[in-house]
Amino acid sequence: MKKLFTTVLVLALVLQVNAQNQLILHADLGKTKISKHIYGHFSEHLGKCIYGGFYVGENNTKIANSKGVRKDVIEALKKMKIPNLRWPGGCFADTYHWEDGIGPVSQRPKMINTNWGGVTEDNSFGTHDFLNMCELLGAEPYLAANVGSGTVQEFTQWIQYVNFDGESPMSKVRIENGREKAWNVKFWGVGNEAWGCGGNMRVEHYVDIYRQYATFMTDWSNASQIFRIASGANGADYHWTEVLMRDIPHDILDGVALHHYSNVQWSNKGSSTDFNEGQYFATLKSALFMDELVTRHSTIMDRYDPAKKIALVVDEWGGWYDVEPGTNPGFLYQQNTMRDAMIAGVTLNIFNNHSERVRIANLAQTINVLQAVILTKDEKMILTPTYHVMEMYNVHQDGILLPIDLKTNNYQFEGKTLPAVSASASRDQSGTTHISLVNIDAKNAQEISIQLQGTKYNSVTGRILTSATLQDHNTFENPSKVKPETFKGATLASDLKVTLPPFSVVVLELK
Ligand code: AHR
Repeated sequence: MKKLFTTVLVLALVLQVNAQNQLILHADLGKTKISKHIYGHFSEHLGKCIYGGFYVGENNTKIANSKGVRKDVIEALKKMKIPNLRWPGGCFADTYHWEDGIGPVSQRPKMINTNWGGVTEDNSFGTHDFLNMCELLGAEPYLAANVGSGTVQEFTQWIQYVNFDGESPMSKVRIENGREKAWNVKFWGVGNEAWGCGGNMRVEHYVDIYRQYATFMTDWSNASQIFRIASGANGADYHWTEVLMRDIPHDILDGVALHHYSNVQWSNKGSSTDFNEGQYFATLKSALFMDELVTRHSTIMDRYDPAKKIALVVDEWGGWYDVEPGTNPGFLYQQNTMRDAMIAGVTLNIFNNHSERVRIANLAQTINVLQAVILTKDEKMILTPTYHVMEMYNVHQDGILLPIDLKTNNYQFEGKTLPAVSASASRDQSGTTHISLVNIDAKNAQEISIQLQGTKYNSVTGRILTSATLQDHNTFENPSKVKPETFKGATLASDLKVTLPPFSVVVLELK
């Protein structure tokens, strides 16, 4: 009798634990499109992002390249389905004069990259190189223009140079430099971090500057509709968003930016690979704060723009740690572990679930800088765990967001808690449903019961990214230590039952 009682008690406890992770998928209630542009990337003239990362120069005989751009990088980014690429900064953007990066390379003036290591920038990678590279990648360019140390004239001439197909002073120079057809660049940032490296401005001052610049941003081409993005808030600076939305006429404002980086703390960021569970927990807490940020900035935007015409553009996000020992502190080179895969998984779920308002985002940065998807060393290239998450999640690009109700267990660490499971779901154009699930719990697997409402599915398949330890990462010696595998932990009956190992990212496909 006692044995039976104990068995029933254990069973009840197990059921209770399992019951806590529940997801209801409303497969018939989707209405919002997840813009592919929330899967965007960022490339700054910083450390080895451009030079050595994307670009090795046309005369490089050791590394296969197409007009100087690494072929291995092009192939990897195309496979990941990179939808857009922001350039040339970051802080660098507000020091950059685009005219210095056109024409014969030997005649281009040099400059000092004052933000990033004080190195000499020879301007060998400029507007043509970037925009042609975007064509090779199949990615839309997002140009961040100089407001901090530039002029309205310089800005408008750049637009004319890249977007005007008729006869004009700037299109004439473009054609002389070898490009007949305009590129029709749509996304334009009006400065970067105006509250910091972009000029240390108060938002009350920046809105007037923005109004002035945006007024003269003529849409030179009829084919492109210029999309103007205002330099946005630093994290939780809600006043910044309030003033942008209130004081900029909405007919010259298409996007409002937001920047948020994740780490333990700014004054003590710690190593990218040598971290303990406390540091992991703190970093994930900081990453999950993105949900509150996006919710609260959106709430402010809703007050001024209930029709959600203006996009929230999270054009810098990702993990930021100490640089790798022995590397230039100004180059922001860091490794990328399963912790970064967790950051990417939860953040992309947040963006998907807020896709009504978040319509562009850019991970910082694509190659060799911060939470990179690719690391290079001379002719070698490796894909990071973050790359794999981005590639697995690309099934959501331009899908219809399917609403979910999620009830999750807590991930507990020393009396503190975070939600263990994060999720989002979409239906693609062929009618296939994808559910992305992340278990951030460092020690415990999580079982989830998923109720599938509003449609009938006959099959489930999936892929998983996990590894033996949270610190696992790919190296030039062992490039495939962390890579996606086929997922076998899902069973479909009346409900879908899924078991997520500790610190894992899973993407399911339901047909
Ligand atoms: O991504 C690195 C830097 O972080 C960017 O240049 C700047 O915009 C931000 O502060």
